[in-house]
Amino acid sequence: MSTIPETRYLRGLGRPVSSLGAGCWTIGGAATNRGVPIGWDGVDSARAFDGLLRAHELGVTLYDTADVYGLGHSERLLGRLLAHVPRHEVTVSSKVGYFASAAHPYAAEQMRRQLERTLRHLGIDYLDLYFFHSTDFGEGDQYLARAVKQMRAFVEHGLVRAIGMRAPHTFALEWATGPSHDHRCHEAARFLHLYQKIRPDVLTVRYNLLSPLYAPGETDVFDLAKAQGVAVIIKQALGQGILLGTHHPDHPRTFGRGDHRRQDPTFTPEALREVHRGLSPVRERYGATVPDMARLALRYALARDPTVPVLVGFRDAEQINTTITSLGEPLADDEITWLRRSLAPLRDAFAARTAKHHVR
Ligand SMILES: NC(=O)c1ccc[n+]([C@@H]2O[C@H](COP(=O)([O-])OP(=O)(O)OC[C@H]3O[C@@H](n4cnc5c(N)ncnc54)[C@H](OP(=O)(O)O)[C@@H]3O)[C@@H](O)[C@H]2O)c1
Repeated sequence: MSTIPETRYLRGLGRPVSSLGAGCWTIGGAATNRGVPIGWDGVDSARAFDGLLRAHELGVTLYDTADVYGLGHSERLLGRLLAHVPRHEVTVSSKVGYFASAAHPYAAEQMRRQLERTLRHLGIDYLDLYFFHSTDFGEGDQYLARAVKQMRAFVEHGLVRAIGMRAPHTFALEWATGPSHDHRCHEAARFLHLYQKIRPDVLTVRYNLLSPLYAPGETDVFDLAKAQGVAVIIKQALGQGILLGTHHPDHPRTFGRGDHRRQDPTFTPEALREVHRGLSPVRERYGATVPDMARLALRYALARDPTVPVLVGFRDAEQINTTITSLGEPLADDEITWLRRSLAPLRDAFAARTAKHHVR
């Protein structure tokens, strides 16, 4: 029986998905790609698969993976679940663009090989959503036009139902015409350029309690997508764990060579201390347990737009169970206003930290 109380209609896809989707990056486990850490430590495959089973039992119908998550391991685990689930009951998304190979990941022939591999891993004959994962289309974007053409051919041949791309973590349409030496203007202009070439059906957006708020008159990704009939899926609503209070600054975790968090400025002891301090008014008002914080994080994300589902990452059945069963009642408008006001100092500190990271 489904525990997830709501479904959401992804614009352009014409069918409902569960409001919470299973983000399958984590279950790929630790991995490196061209020497870069891209995974998550300490993930046990059997327990991760139990997590997928639990997600399905709880009513999750949206599953997001990528060729590069665990270098295929995430897709293969998800394939084991899909073998037992009627295909039409689930929406499955995967991605292409990062997997290291002799050819550029967006060379048309490489994309065809990679999609074949993805479908084989998943044991299905089409993807509902296929994402351009990376924004690196080679020197002078030399692979861009042919990659887009190849993606459209996948759609024509019935191998892919809808095309996706990622949005920048911070974006306002109005920034795109600003000076290109300003990192956020440069990033906005780059995104818009690719967006106009790709004309995606779906965007993924990082959105959580620490996401920036925009000035009146600024058009963020949600507003842009809505105006253009493009669907949005939210990712990292739990802040990759830091919003749940499970990373205490006095006991920072160390991450192995295959865990992407070892290079992420969000997981340094100083950043974790900032988060711990910044979240204290929230803990005081709502409680400090993982279910308390999960409810707030998810309800905040779900409140952004009634058509947008939220992906949640997990490493086992206990995590996905706790996360999904914590959902509870929606937040009232005045609670959202209070959260935004109370978290303003932390949000600003985070924006500054991220900006510094870009400069490096
Ligand atoms: N399109 C893209 O480019 C893109 C990019 C990023 C993500 N995504 C998708 O979005 C999904 C969600 O993002 P995410 O996985 O990065 O971040 P997330 O959902 O914000 O956080 C997931 C992490 O939080 C911790 N966690 C979750 N539930 C917990 C619980 N009940 N108790 C304690 N800890 C818990 C776990 O990490 P620990 O146990 O290790 O602490 C888990 O791996 C991804 O899995 C992926 O499918 C897509």
